[in-house]
Amino acid sequence: MDIKNVPNHVAIILDGNGRWAKKRGQPRSYGHYMGGRNLFKVASYAKQLGISKLSVYAFSTENWKRPQEEVDYLMTKPIELYYKNIDKFNEIDYKIIFSGRKDRFSEALLKVMHEIENKTKAFKGFVLNVCVDYGSYDEIITAVNQLDKPITIEKLESKLFVKEPVDLLIRTSGEMRISNFLLWQIAYAEFYFTHVHWPSFDKKQLIKAIKSYQKRQRRFGGLK
Ligand code: IPE
Ligand code: IPE
Ligand code: MG
Repeated sequence: MDIKNVPNHVAIILDGNGRWAKKRGQPRSYGHYMGGRNLFKVASYAKQLGISKLSVYAFSTENWKRPQEEVDYLMTKPIELYYKNIDKFNEIDYKIIFSGRKDRFSEALLKVMHEIENKTKAFKGFVLNVCVDYGSYDEIITAVNQLDKPITIEKLESKLFVKEPVDLLIRTSGEMRISNFLLWQIAYAEFYFTHVHWPSFDKKQLIKAIKSYQKRQRRFGGLK
């Protein structure tokens, strides 16, 4: 891996928690639990490798359609895990932010998200951007509704939840679709799809994706 050509902004569609669990004869919730744990491991690797920002898709505006039991698990388990592991959260040495709608979460979950953002806000350098209740249609429409005409690229971007263009987009678990993630920001991103389910995606997999990125010739519409 060429350490001088690491993508600045990496986005990952964290897919395959359910299939990972099913393969192991476990409930889907166990896949979400292990997927959540994996997120902190992968964020540390990303930081070590010199990536500036890691945006991850953890819950989409469409994921509310899932069975109530699963939605309830995803909306309440993180609260319990946060308070249980508060010492570990206090040791996190990078900035964490949450992007997405904030009007459909419980007060308890909002409080946890706020605490995490607050206790990590002073860190410079690497940022872990967790996209929750995030959908690009919602993001773009919300942005447009805040603007007066004529709308420009710069004005629109200033109102988006995620402002930086994505350099490398990774989707785990084999699906080759975007599912309403960062539609604006991936205009010139390089795509990398892997069959590995999210809870099994490790440092080796991340390096593989970056190596693939480094073989691409990015032209941005010009000529090389
Ligand atoms: C990704 O894993 C996590 C969320 C969308 C919350 P999935 O839950 O989509 O897992 P699969 O795709 O059903 O295996
Ligand atoms: C995309 O995964 C959303 C997240 C990873 C949070 P989904 O599992 O919801 O996507 P589809 O339904 O397969 O497109
Ligand atoms: Mg899925």
